[in-house]
Order: sequence, then structure tokens, then C-alpha cells
Amino acid sequence: MPTVQACLFDLDGVIVDTAKYHYLAWRQLANQLGFDLTLEQNELLKGISRMESLDIILEIGGVKLDEAEKTKLATEKNLRYLELCKQITPDDALPGVRRFLDELRADSIKVGLGSASKNAKTILTNLDMLTYFDTIVDGNRVTKGKPDPQVFLMGAEDLSVAPEYCLVFEDAVAGVQSGNAAGMCTIGIGEQSVLNEADIVIKGFDGVSVDDLFGKLT
Ligand code: BG6
Ligand code: MG
Repeated sequence: MPTVQACLFDLDGVIVDTAKYHYLAWRQLANQLGFDLTLEQNELLKGISRMESLDIILEIGGVKLDEAEKTKLATEKNLRYLELCKQITPDDALPGVRRFLDELRADSIKVGLGSASKNAKTILTNLDMLTYFDTIVDGNRVTKGKPDPQVFLMGAEDLSVAPEYCLVFEDAVAGVQSGNAAGMCTIGIGEQSVLNEADIVIKGFDGVSVDDLFGKLT
């Protein structure tokens, strides 16, 4: 790929492990409605917006609700989620992430966030990491969820960098597809077997330097 000029990071599962809090809050909602949500089913929700996640959960439970009820449940889930997220501190950034971002900044590579979450700024504030990002595209700005490329294309535009010079870091299949659809190179964070549509898959940032990773891009 051409020289990397910008890196666009997903938040949940890439910068911090919030999936466990999303799961707890969604599971409570499912239990309230009379069914359970397994960890495997929770995987389907990664990278997916709040309301789309709710639709998937209701389908799992075979529950039909009107829009007003859905909005009420989603609001309740979010309050529970935010309560759980209060325990996030700067120590909760995933291993190596902060150092990796420092290396990018030292190399004058622009850094953006591309997240489906409407809580992205709150989480980054709890992590004390807001200042790492030259732009933040979150669930409050996008109109189309991943796998649509909108979130990453907006990030690239904010940073005035053409898509082919952008690198996307994603832990969700829908997020990798979004980066690919944006015409960007994608780095999957997780398992090769799950994220096989990514150009490169790494387990995380621990022990991974910017130079090493960029050296692997063809
Ligand atoms: C994504 C998560 O980053 O954000 C999803 O992977 C979540 O699980 C989505 O549903 C929306 O998050 P929020 O914080 O706006 O409910
Ligand atoms: Mg994610």
C-alpha cells in the first residue's frame, strides 16, 4: 500500500475492552424480557449500532415491540452501560495501545477514531485519551452503520487524507468490511479465523511497533 498518512481506530475492542459491559447491560435487558443472551450471540453485536443491536436481540428472543418501547429499552440499557463504564480508568486502555499511538504521533501520522458508539467521547475521557485523536467520528455523527464505509470516509475527510493512505484498526467483522469498503487497508485485532477479510490480523498492540506493522504492508 502507499505510505500511511492516517490511522483510523475503532474504539470498543480496539482501544478498550467495553464488550464485557455491553454484554452485561444487554443480557440484563434480555433477562428482563424473559430470555438469555449467550456470549456467542453477543459476538453478533460487535461494531453494530445500539438500535440495530436491540433489533438483533429482540429477534433472538422472538420478541416484537413498537418503536416507543424499543427506544425506552435502549435508553435503559445505555444508562446501565454508562454506569458500568464509570469504572474505566486510564489503566484500562488495552496493552500497548497508548505506546502505539505515541509512536504514530512521533512519526507525524494523523490519528482518528471511527466508532459506532454514541458514548465514544465519554469512554475516551475516562481513559484520559481524548487528546490522542485529531478527529472523532462516532455514533452521533454517522447516519449509516458499519459495514457501510461512511464512518471511516468521514474520518479520512476530516483529516484531509485520501482513503488509500488510511489504515483502519478493527476488531469486528462489520468494521473490517467497512474499512475495506472505504478503500482502506485494514488491520484486524483478534482472531485470523474471524477477521479473515482484513489485510493483516494481529492479536493486539502489545509488542507490535508501528515500524514492524507498516513493514508488513505491501
Ligand atoms: C460499537 C460496539 O463500538 O458501538 C457495539 O462494538 C455497540 O457493541 C455500538 O452497540 C454502539 O455503542 P453505544 O455506546 O452507542 O451504545
Ligand atoms: Mg469494536
